[in-house]
Amino acid sequence: MSKLGLRDLEVRGRRVLVRVDFNVPTEEREGAICITDDTRMRESLPTIKYLRDHGAKTILMAHFGRPKGKPVEKYSLRPVGVALHDLIGHPVVFSHDCIGADAEKIVSHMQDGDVVLLENVRFHAGEEANDPVFAEELAKLGDGVYVNDAFGAAHRAHASIAGITKFIRQSAMGFLMEKELKYLQEELAHPAAPFLVVLGGGKVSDKIGVIKALMEKADTILICGAMANTFLEAEGIHMGSSRVERDKLGLARELVELAKQKNVRLLLPIDVLGAEEIKPGAATRHSGRISPDYNIPDGWQAVDIGPLTIALFRSEIARAKTILWNGPPGIFEIQEFSAGTEAIAEALAESNATTIIGGGDSVTAVKQAGLADKMTFISTGGGASLELIEGKELPGVAALTER
Ligand code: 3PG
Repeated sequence: MSKLGLRDLEVRGRRVLVRVDFNVPTEEREGAICITDDTRMRESLPTIKYLRDHGAKTILMAHFGRPKGKPVEKYSLRPVGVALHDLIGHPVVFSHDCIGADAEKIVSHMQDGDVVLLENVRFHAGEEANDPVFAEELAKLGDGVYVNDAFGAAHRAHASIAGITKFIRQSAMGFLMEKELKYLQEELAHPAAPFLVVLGGGKVSDKIGVIKALMEKADTILICGAMANTFLEAEGIHMGSSRVERDKLGLARELVELAKQKNVRLLLPIDVLGAEEIKPGAATRHSGRISPDYNIPDGWQAVDIGPLTIALFRSEIARAKTILWNGPPGIFEIQEFSAGTEAIAEALAESNATTIIGGGDSVTAVKQAGLADKMTFISTGGGASLELIEGKELPGVAALTER
């Protein structure tokens, strides 16, 4: 890779500023904030461990939620600091502000191997504004060395991600950042064929860029999720009361046409699971094979793919050598609508292909199915992974020092 990596840096005895993505899901239990999935924290442990083992003073910067430029208690990173202490088995000193005299005092007392976590950088408006004055304040806490391990936030041109590097001598990728780029960029640039993409999600409009970019590489794209309703409706199949983007029917037809031109097989569901309502326990029924003559009655909506589609998708998955999955085929959070999502996760787990899970809900689905360790790679990024797959340059990567 063209950017500096962690191993390229001389870190011993230095205060190293590290941007991590600790924007983890939480819930309140008996008045306390509990982390419900600490994957993003665990995934940055190799970087933190390396720095500690090599005698660096590690200063962690992160955001949490969207507090909109001012301190909001529920978005404090303090509980994350407590959880990190348990994960690394070493005290994590928490600084209640990410810049200013107190933060400077705390970092000036650090010993080699120590770890400081700064309070949410988004408590200052300068973070999202990429304000150079704020970026310089952050940079001042370190000794001219910066590591970005926050892949999940690398699509944000914010001060702790982009602007800060202007005030730093050497800015490098952390191990997690490197791993994400290896799979989502390098591996997908030259995928072993057949390259299959399973693309779900709500809206065609959210995925236009991704679909177009993937058509340059993929052999087959399986479209599913609510997005598929728009494609099916565009083919003249009435989708009853299903969610359809009526203003995107033309776009769906264009994408089908483009796939033909590019010689990419674009497959849509051939049957669906219909439900009268979107709630647990709702009445459901399989549609049977759908066509312009045999469609979904009004009052019913597609909530998952049906058994015929599951069988079709399974056979496609079994033949592929590289598989990228982004977006579940059904509303898997409701158990009655989760069979399609579970079947895709199982088929990927059974396949011998390189399996890449491109962030967001499909990651949750794979974890819920207990199949995470059967996948080749699971991204910690949501929006960041989509932008990267789309071929966009991520500001957090672009800002790093060239090797
Ligand atoms: C995420 O959770 O996707 C990242 O941490 C980015 O968060 P954001 O969408 O609030 O910028």
